[in-house]
Amino acid sequence: MVGRPVKRTQTSVLWVVLAWGYFATGAAQALDPPHDSSQSIDCFNCHITHHAAGGAITKIGGNPNLCMSCHTAGGVASGSPFADVDEAIPGTSGTSHRWDSGASGWVKPSPANTSLGSVQSGGSFIGRYRKTYTITVTAAGDAGTARFNWTTSKPVGQTYRDEFAAIAFNGTNGTLPWSTSPWQEIVEADGTAAGVIQVAANAACASGNCLRIGGGTIDTRGVRRSANVSQGTSATLTFSYRRQLATCPNTSTANVGLQVSSSGTTWTTLATYNLNACDSGQVAQVFDITPYLAATTQVRFLGVGTAGASDFIYLDNVQVGFLAPGGGGANVSTGINVGLDEGLTVTFVNGTSSPSFALDDQWAIYASPDVNQPTTFALAARMVDGKVTCSTCHNEHSQLAEPFNPAAPPYPAPGPGGAGRDYQRINADIDQMCVDCHSGRNVTASAQGSHPVGVLIPTTGFYKNP
Ligand code: HEC
Ligand code: HEC
Ligand code: HEC
Ligand code: HEC
Repeated sequence: MVGRPVKRTQTSVLWVVLAWGYFATGAAQALDPPHDSSQSIDCFNCHITHHAAGGAITKIGGNPNLCMSCHTAGGVASGSPFADVDEAIPGTSGTSHRWDSGASGWVKPSPANTSLGSVQSGGSFIGRYRKTYTITVTAAGDAGTARFNWTTSKPVGQTYRDEFAAIAFNGTNGTLPWSTSPWQEIVEADGTAAGVIQVAANAACASGNCLRIGGGTIDTRGVRRSANVSQGTSATLTFSYRRQLATCPNTSTANVGLQVSSSGTTWTTLATYNLNACDSGQVAQVFDITPYLAATTQVRFLGVGTAGASDFIYLDNVQVGFLAPGGGGANVSTGINVGLDEGLTVTFVNGTSSPSFALDDQWAIYASPDVNQPTTFALAARMVDGKVTCSTCHNEHSQLAEPFNPAAPPYPAPGPGGAGRDYQRINADIDQMCVDCHSGRNVTASAQGSHPVGVLIPTTGFYKNP
């Protein structure tokens, strides 16, 4: 039977048999309307026996291109036209379910590209939110030689942090390594264990050790640390402090200023801590340092005056946190199934001449959450390069499968013979087709991660079942 489920592996053999059978004798097997003689359509409107452009021996290469050769304004099926721009980018544009996407999203080349090679997304996106990846070629060449950078739209938090776990100036406890730019003493240069700037264990620390300033002449003395936050779109400085004096309060004018700089030359004071009062515990501090985002952003604690021999400020858990464009990689080698993040991979396919990938050319990959590859064989067999096409959801030969629309005519039907049933690939009367790829949304309780569907609502004056 033509167009009925046929195993992929058998297709080419079957095709030869069918082609001889049907094309040689004329269309003995009727197509269901309207893809039939009612619209002057037969097998040859879509198929060609030799040197075909399309994978399924179709006249036009690319499944949607074949459909849209008729389903276009001015085409044979101008009553139901489609164009690529109709494909929905939810919340942005489009009016139709996409026909070029899958669990790995879809790829859009920049219109300015000159590359003859192409980029395909693969894998299965496991992110919780919609995400756009940008691929930029940083060294021209063919796949394997060319290099690329990638960034994503989803911002992630990154931190440089020092909890003073050890008696050292190079502590690093954040998401990014910080040990290569340790605290630098200012004026004083006697290490962690001497002078008015020390890293010491004390009960006044948040825990264990912390940075201690005081106990003598602190004027112009201090400590500074640099952090590369050039990738950031916003940044905060957090830490906590506690002042401990021999006598609380006192009349000292000594203080420690907190300053920030993008360059290390001009400094802005964010706060001043006077060494004339005590704190009963560590006091949390948060400052927005977004205006100072740079590769050379620096923070420093700088003393003024002379602190009493037993008067100190204890500073702990110093953190520079920033939001950076999510994920990303630099100067990555092109190839097959190169890993990005959250389950997504990317494959570079060479073009017809070298170099396939031109410098600065860009591709965007749009990935959507809660989409899986179909498991029903009839659907899965019609995914092309892992992406949905028109024929994944439609069986352009047959109106047999039950459509969702309850008003659709029965099959086989008298008169028009099934026209109006929208050529569904599998029965879809209870959403079977949708939930195959969107099983993540097919839940009956909100605890399962989405709005419940298929829940019976009691018919009362306020609720009415559809
Ligand atoms: C409206 C366009 C169209 C018409 C008309 C059409 N086909 Fe197809 N056919 C396709 C497309 C697209 C595919 C590939 C997608 C798929 O598997 O359905 C295909 C696939 C096939 C296959 C592969 C088997 C399968 O189901 O995977 C066979 C065999 C086939 N067609 C035979 C025919 C014959 C015989 C006729 C005429 C009686 C015909 N087709 C008419 C578009 C058409
Ligand atoms: C994700 C599944 C899916 C994909 C992909 C898909 N369709 Fe559909 N299509 C449907 C369903 C379901 C219906 C019937 C319900 C409705 O009318 O919306 C339908 C209805 C139609 C109709 C009749 C109603 C109308 O709006 O014109 C046409 C024609 C059609 N599709 C053509 C196409 C073509 C051509 C493509 C590819 C360019 C395509 N479809 C891709 C699921 C799909
Ligand atoms: C040779 C021209 C031609 C091609 C190619 C073609 N169609 Fe059609 N199709 C038509 C015509 C004509 C109609 C009926 C009139 C209209 O919708 O404008 C139709 C109607 C439909 C309908 C509505 C059926 C109904 O029950 O009312 C669907 C769905 C559809 N086509 C899907 C497809 C898909 C999917 C492809 C590609 C695999 C495709 N068509 C390729 C000519 C074509
Ligand atoms: C063969 C697999 C497949 C089938 C069948 C399918 N979808 Fe989808 N659907 C997808 C993919 C893939 C996307 C992601 C599109 C993108 O990348 O933006 C998607 C996206 C959507 C979206 C946009 C929201 C989002 O998360 O991007 C809606 C709504 C949707 N589908 C509804 C449906 C409905 C309703 C049906 C049944 C008529 C259906 N789908 C059938 C694969 C499928």
